[in-house]
Amino acid sequence: MQFSYINPTRIEFGQGKIKKIIELVSKEDRVLFLYGGGSIKNNGVYDQVKDTLSNHTWFEFGGIEPNPKKETLDKAIAYGRENKVDFILAVGGGSVIDGAKYVANAFFYDGDGWDLLEGKYTPTKALKIGAILTLAATGSESNTGSVITKKETNEKRFFHSPFSYPQFAILDPDVLKSLDERQLVNGVVDAFVHTCEQYLTQNHGALAQDYYSEGLLRALIKLADTFDKRDDLWYANLMWIANQALNGILGLGVPQDWATHFIGHELSGLYGIDHARTLAIIQPNLLTILVDEKEEKLLQMGQNVFGLDTSNPLDVVEKIRALYASLNIDLKISSYTDDKEIIEKVTSLLEKHGFTQFGDRGTVNKAVVVKILEKSI
Ligand code: NZQ
Ligand code: ZN
Repeated sequence: MQFSYINPTRIEFGQGKIKKIIELVSKEDRVLFLYGGGSIKNNGVYDQVKDTLSNHTWFEFGGIEPNPKKETLDKAIAYGRENKVDFILAVGGGSVIDGAKYVANAFFYDGDGWDLLEGKYTPTKALKIGAILTLAATGSESNTGSVITKKETNEKRFFHSPFSYPQFAILDPDVLKSLDERQLVNGVVDAFVHTCEQYLTQNHGALAQDYYSEGLLRALIKLADTFDKRDDLWYANLMWIANQALNGILGLGVPQDWATHFIGHELSGLYGIDHARTLAIIQPNLLTILVDEKEEKLLQMGQNVFGLDTSNPLDVVEKIRALYASLNIDLKISSYTDDKEIIEKVTSLLEKHGFTQFGDRGTVNKAVVVKILEKSI
């Protein structure tokens, strides 16, 4: 175990917390209020933010898409520059918050913001960000990750920047009540797979990371089991668990996988499939193909997470698959597209993005990806 750890994002958690932005955003700052396709106008969040900002100078930019597009975000940058903003208030799910990170990091750069995604530009300064989370799934509200899609090429790529930590994140679980079941399911699954990416790797003996992961996985299974009986605490639990699953703490000093995510990102880029659904399709098939190298951790998961008494790691993979199926997720790519060239397109994009040997042991190469995709189509 060897790591540096800081997570500077202040979390304000609980019902009625949105008004806290009065204290958290300086009156001196000119604020760019970023949001998505309009859900916040239907659930009262837009009005709450607007009322709270009444003594601030602020500008709004809406229309950031799910799987946010670089082309739209470049317009937000131009609008922000025109109005000389200092602070971005991102109000939405992972897409809006990831979009805010792109805008913040590219704001002072003369070149193409996409250079961030290609590793050609490393920012030395950025705008400040604050987040009001409306969808619990990605953990973006208190991490450094940002996943952006370029419409022109259907490429979905990610970047990390230390400037991407929001200064604060407001987590009011009441806001989640306007989400439809599809998005709530996405939240449970994305948080589950984030935990697995940092846990289902190889034996390392780092007990805090292992047992904390197991606790979060058990909690997510409980949320799946009680999905039809959602009460206030259910939403609060989802919001906090999804945050913990990807705020950086689970993966400290231990091997991490992320192969499911890298393949899933290409599928979202190409076909617009919801992020979490790409994960639910790919992960069980990846675990099946890599069962020998994952055996030890799968058996540990079987015992400590599912309470399963088995010596066959594939039984654990079946439990995971059954969990996703119980949430009514279509587990085949063919349910979302009838493209006949999925394998060629995904493998060539992975190669283009430098993913030729990935996964926690570096064993996921083109041949392995082809096998995973053959099972997934
Ligand atoms: O755009 P609006 O109108 O707001 O509607 C959104 C959108 O259509 C809607 N929604 C959000 N909050 C709502 C609501 N509808 C009703 N009530 C509410 N309270 O939900 C839809 C999906 O929103 P989106 O932000 O796209 O979902 P999510 O939070 O799952 O974010 C997905 C994006 O995050 C990336 C994904 O790749 C994807 O692009 N990820 C980001 C990560 C990170 N930054 O660390 C890690 C993840 O692994 C992931 O890759
Ligand atoms: Zn994810």
